[in-house]
Amino acid sequence: MAQESSLNFSYEQLLSNVKLDAPLIVGGMRCHGGFDADGNYRSPRTMWRVPAIEAWQQQHLATSPVPLVQITADCVPPHLPSVAQAKLLLKNGVREPIVRILTEIAIIEGFGATIRDLPVPPLASFLRESTASTALAHLTGGLFEAHARDEAGWGEEGGHKQMWEAARDVAFSNPDVPADILMMIMGRRSSQNRPQRLLAALPEPVERLLGFMAGVLAIEVFARSTFQWAEELVGDPEVSDSPEQAARLVSYIRADESPHVEYLRTVLSEVAARTLITADGGEMAGREAVNAMLERSLKMMIRQRIRDRRDQVRSSIRAAAAGKVADVEEFAAQFDALETPWEPPAFARVEPAGAPPAAGQVGY
Ligand SMILES: [Fe+2]
Ligand SMILES: [Fe+2]
Repeated sequence: MAQESSLNFSYEQLLSNVKLDAPLIVGGMRCHGGFDADGNYRSPRTMWRVPAIEAWQQQHLATSPVPLVQITADCVPPHLPSVAQAKLLLKNGVREPIVRILTEIAIIEGFGATIRDLPVPPLASFLRESTASTALAHLTGGLFEAHARDEAGWGEEGGHKQMWEAARDVAFSNPDVPADILMMIMGRRSSQNRPQRLLAALPEPVERLLGFMAGVLAIEVFARSTFQWAEELVGDPEVSDSPEQAARLVSYIRADESPHVEYLRTVLSEVAARTLITADGGEMAGREAVNAMLERSLKMMIRQRIRDRRDQVRSSIRAAAAGKVADVEEFAAQFDALETPWEPPAFARVEPAGAPPAAGQVGY
């Protein structure tokens, strides 16, 4: 087991950068991260954060039979539109839906700043066992703050929000950005029902903390297909005006996401290995709670992807193609035929009304 001193880090340490030889400057803006003496990109705030997360994971595995939480690849839907669909649009001069998607990604990355506002109740108030020298004990001690800064930028320094905007602007030569995107995202969010309480025996702020972290972990893991898609698309000289620079930028953002996935799965695993204290002073297995939260997040995201996303993409394509292609319906049919087929895992299938839900299979 690691020495205790190598498991405890100050707030300043968890926000410290590795030594950089050159900053990352994109379109005149200083962004986070930069390049070491060998010219390799180094993610921001990783000098201590990355070894710390590794040490907490090792400690968890050495002290608990609970494996690290994992969202398996079969849960992650391929990106919609696919690369082939996006290329069909771009080659026909229908750029707006792609500009829209890249802008949405940038805006949603910016929302990541809200993670620093998530209330964390005192750990001893809801966990029976000690949390000394764990990732859990560092959530408000730098982990949430580093995450927030990575996503939304900090001070004069751009973060993922600004880096996605830059990737869009270099790939498509400063395209016109539709003005209604933020409004559309806000509209979609407000129409989504707030999830019902799932673990009503827990104090509400504890359920909110666990639910939020499970949801963000699912978003971070699902983003893998977005990165793959974007890197391939903006890196394709057939459709991108600056393939090398744009694809490099996306690869830097992708590299920065790795500590987010790793600290969240560590923290959720640490909770899973412990006993939760319910509102009335009883007990609940952490494993049961974490599993339930993860499964719900995945089900919601997969269903949203299967139902709503396809409808949004289809209507956006029809509207943008009008006037640009001879026959919008034929173009839409061509577009649909290029979708990447995907079968969701059994637990997340959209069941016909009345059918019993499939048994869960998420988490470990
Ligand atoms: Fe991000
Ligand atoms: Fe992230």
